[in-house]
Amino acid sequence: MSKTKVASKNKTAKLTIDNKSVFLPIYHSTEGESVIDITNLHSEANVFTYDPGFTSTASCESKITFIDGNKGILRYRGYDIEELAKKSDFIEVVNLLIYGDLPNKAQLKKYKQLISRHTLLHDQIINFFQGFRRDAHPMAMMVGVMGALSSFYQDSLDINDAHQRQEATRRIIAKASTIGAMAYKYSIGQSFVSPKNNLSFSENFLHMCFSNTAEEYKISPILAKAMDTIFILHADHEQNASTSTVRLAGSSGANPFACIAAGVSSLWGPAHGGANQAALEMLEEIGTSKNIQKYLKKAKSKKDPFKLMGFGHRVYKNYDPRAKILKNICQKVLKHTGIKNDPILKLAMDLEKIALNDKYFIEKKLYPNVDFYSGIILKAIGFPPEMFTVIFAISRTAGWTAQWTEMIEDPIQKIGRPRQLYTGNKHHKYGYKRSKKNTR
Ligand code: SDX
Repeated sequence: MSKTKVASKNKTAKLTIDNKSVFLPIYHSTEGESVIDITNLHSEANVFTYDPGFTSTASCESKITFIDGNKGILRYRGYDIEELAKKSDFIEVVNLLIYGDLPNKAQLKKYKQLISRHTLLHDQIINFFQGFRRDAHPMAMMVGVMGALSSFYQDSLDINDAHQRQEATRRIIAKASTIGAMAYKYSIGQSFVSPKNNLSFSENFLHMCFSNTAEEYKISPILAKAMDTIFILHADHEQNASTSTVRLAGSSGANPFACIAAGVSSLWGPAHGGANQAALEMLEEIGTSKNIQKYLKKAKSKKDPFKLMGFGHRVYKNYDPRAKILKNICQKVLKHTGIKNDPILKLAMDLEKIALNDKYFIEKKLYPNVDFYSGIILKAIGFPPEMFTVIFAISRTAGWTAQWTEMIEDPIQKIGRPRQLYTGNKHHKYGYKRSKKNTR
């Protein structure tokens, strides 16, 4: 991918420290914030920048996804998420994210065949599942089995070979769905159900999860569309924690399966992809709208670690556009599954209304994010909360592999190796008196 950052002709940033000035180039983006290039800062001024959590740091140049947090905009390769959710399907979006533009009909047909031909797993991988306890979290199986794939597909590990990179990407996207379904079946004690190549990606996932040896799952077009939209909405999101993890792992030259396993691990956290499970469990704990104020008080208290799960976002200081789409899907899915006036959905909508009018949430610009409504839909489709983050991971393999490919093909990419602000002990000789309080 050609790097096309546009250096500003007449603008540089001047940084003056102890009367010494350093001039740093400014690059303009196509949309959104410009950046100050600090690559030479350390060599010229012998200082580092300091930005824990990377709140003001661009780690790379990318053409894949654009987010405007203030306006609540999300675009994959320039296309608004609202349009893609309505008009596209998940595998077309995967192709868009990886190759940069929408495929034509013939390209899409071929790509769908390629992906469906990679959904099967090597038979010996089944043994990996036997090693887990039945009550293991399905994300533990996703992490373990995804990383193990590198030992089965040794003909797609060479990251410097474009064909092998493509093969690895297709295998990861196709097999993540099968592994996720197997993790679910294993956790409920049912035998695994093989993928069917005549089904769409989302239909296949529902089939592998909900069919069993005695009965074929009857795939409802409404639920299949809802599943596909959920996959589209979770596919990529710029340089979030798990994508940055994949990029950092990939920057060392690690094989693609290992990098994606690292991404799965990072996504699992409740502050990130694990929030969809945590949000539903939180709603079930709140129980009724009468308890909302009690939990809002906890969320606002500095002394209480409780956070309103599914609320807030590092980038969105406005409504997460994905949450808006999911809120609408909620109604459709609940109606279709005959869940009239679902108390949890009613509670979620009451909670949203009260929180959005609360001074604390308004001041801190905390809005519902992608994880607030997704769990309600997934539960109505039939998934247990432990599967919610697995479904997020299956979808995010699209973004992870697209971003990983972009990084590997970036001519200026090098191993990621941040520095630190060191505030530890100064040099002292062995035998130095340790501090009195022995906290070991
Ligand atoms: C995802 O990055 C991505 O793009 C992620 C994602 C993707 O698609 O990849 O969008 C997916 O991870 C969505 C986020 C899911 N997580 C949650 O819903 C968990 C609950 N949310 C919070 O943990 C929090 O909002 C984060 C982690 C999402 C964002 O944290 P930040 O940007 O580091 O913000 P912060 O923690 O510094 O919060 C700023 C202030 C703090 O108060 P002060 O210290 O300034 O007084 O807002 C408060 C926070 O305490 N705050 C919350 C809150 N979220 C932030 N207070 C109560 N409830 C919350 N949910």
